[in-house]
Amino acid sequence: MRPVVRPRRLRTTPALRRMVAETSLEARQLVLPLFVREGLEEPVPISSMPGVVQHSRSSLLAAVAEAAELGLGGVMLFGIPETKDATGSGAVDPGGVLNLAITDVVAEVGDALTVMSDLCLDEFTDHGHCGVLTPDGRVDNDRTLERYAEMALAQADAGVDMVGPSGMMDGQVAVVRAALDGADHTDVSVLAYSAKYASAFFGPFREAVDSSLVGDRRTYQQDPANGTEGVREALLDVAQGADLVMVKPALSYLDVVRRVRDAVDVPVAAYNVSGEYAMLEAAAAQGWIDREPAILEALTSIRRAGADIVLTYWAAEAARLLRS
Ligand code: PBG
Repeated sequence: MRPVVRPRRLRTTPALRRMVAETSLEARQLVLPLFVREGLEEPVPISSMPGVVQHSRSSLLAAVAEAAELGLGGVMLFGIPETKDATGSGAVDPGGVLNLAITDVVAEVGDALTVMSDLCLDEFTDHGHCGVLTPDGRVDNDRTLERYAEMALAQADAGVDMVGPSGMMDGQVAVVRAALDGADHTDVSVLAYSAKYASAFFGPFREAVDSSLVGDRRTYQQDPANGTEGVREALLDVAQGADLVMVKPALSYLDVVRRVRDAVDVPVAAYNVSGEYAMLEAAAAQGWIDREPAILEALTSIRRAGADIVLTYWAAEAARLLRS
């Protein structure tokens, strides 16, 4: 029997495939995470993330200028201080590496990019946890919230457009929102890392930020086994005033991306994390995978799952590929 229904007809030519494509991937949907390290004269490569560097203050500016020229949606800034301490003082110091970088970047790109900053203590604490500790070594949720409020104000005073609370403390979005509003920073928006999992795929990031963490983050980040709980976290964050919510990592959690997209009425972001980047780069370096199509396929899949915005270390490269 000859088939009557022939889905292949819509795959006949590139123009036809382009016309019926359900998902688009555009530069404006991509956000580039960037690392800036205090005291560097020259950028330093991150060995587990080939092509990604810890920026110096000046190389960071070249990177954001390029991101703006490429039409990316934004940049997400991470700071690595020269000295770390128990409470992460560098995070709230107006002269701290991240706060200075925010001011520099906003001066460089103005409104051409959305300038976002990581709002978390782990890069700044000597124990490497995302919060302050109790005397017996547990992460103290509510004392950490006080620190996040101060950090939000420092970042807003530095000029940031959007803060990204990523520490998975309960109530963090409400506290950050109230702190911003109480200081007349009502225009600073909040990208909530809502469903953030205790993931092995963050491995290379720990090198990227010179993390001093011993142990894991399983008392505050989510169990990879849980999807419904990810939806719950996202709904709680929306109720607390999150302007956008995020799922992280992306590729192993595409079902969570879809469920969160269907559950909330704010934009959804997904973070294509360091380990996802490293795996594909490592396979490509071996000649085991065709790098550029694999990058575009991975990013398209995250969009297809329901992410409106994708944070990815390939943002600039993908934007270039999409142009050509
Ligand atoms: C916490 C933070 C982490 C990442 C982004 N923000 C690390 C962690 O929670 O351990 C990971 C990003 C990546 O792996 O690309 N400030």
